[in-house]
Amino acid sequence: MSLAIISAMDVEMEQYLEHCTLRASTERAGLTIHEAHWRGHDVALVRSGVGKVNAALCTQLLIDRYDLDAVLCTGSAGALDPALDIGDVVIASDCVHHDVLVDFMGLPRGQIPFTDHRFFETHPVLRRHALEVGLTDHRVQAGRVLTGDTFVEDESQRRRLRAELDGACVEMEGAAVGQVCAVNDVPYLVVRAVSDHADGTSNLDFETFLEEAARSSSQIVLDLLDALDTNERLGSAGR
Ligand code: ADE
Repeated sequence: MSLAIISAMDVEMEQYLEHCTLRASTERAGLTIHEAHWRGHDVALVRSGVGKVNAALCTQLLIDRYDLDAVLCTGSAGALDPALDIGDVVIASDCVHHDVLVDFMGLPRGQIPFTDHRFFETHPVLRRHALEVGLTDHRVQAGRVLTGDTFVEDESQRRRLRAELDGACVEMEGAAVGQVCAVNDVPYLVVRAVSDHADGTSNLDFETFLEEAARSSSQIVLDLLDALDTNERLGSAGR
C-alpha cells in the first residue's frame, strides 16, 4: 500500500523516522517529505506543523503527489474522557472541528456552513485493525476526536466540549486531515495518545508526557501497518 503518516511535531515524527527505512527526502511548501518503507508498504512521512491550516495543506499536497491508499494522522491529545490516562490511545471513530461555530444560522457546533460536513468518519478497516493492535501498558479505545486551533487547558472548556460533542480527546489537526481526505475520497485514520487532560495542568503535563504519547500512538500505527495487506485496496472513505 501507499500511505502517508502525518504528525504535527518533531518528537512525534521522530518515532517513525527511527523505525522506517528511509529512501529519499524532498522539500515542498516548507515541508520535508520523507519517502520510506515499512513492512512492505511505501510511506510518506511528514511533520506538518501544528494546527488545521498546516495539516490541511500537508494532506492535500501528499494526496496530489502520491496515489495514496490512506492517510494516517498521529500524535498527542488532551483527554476529554475522564477514564483516559496519560499514554492511553484513542482510535478516532470520527473527527469534528470544535471551533467551527456559526450560531446565527442555527447550526450545531462543528457544522460547516453550506455543506453537509460536520463529522468526518474514519475508515472502518483501518479503525478495526488499529483497535486490534492493543498495548501492554495502556488502554486503546475508539472515540470521537475534537479538533481546533487552540490548546485546551481549561476545565470549563474541557467539560463544555465533552458535553456538547461527546469527544474522547482534543487535538489540533485531525478534522482538517479528515475534511481534506473526505473531499478527495481518500481513506483516513487519526490515532492519538493522551499527553494531558485538557485542564489547568495541561501546559506542564504536555511537556512532560509528549514523548510518552508519541511512543504510544506510533506503536499503534506501526503495528497497524503490519496488519494491513500490502496489496489490499481499502475502498471508498467511510464505507
Ligand atoms: N494536543 C495535546 N494536548 C492538547 C490539548 N490540551 N489541546 C489541544 N491539543 C492538544
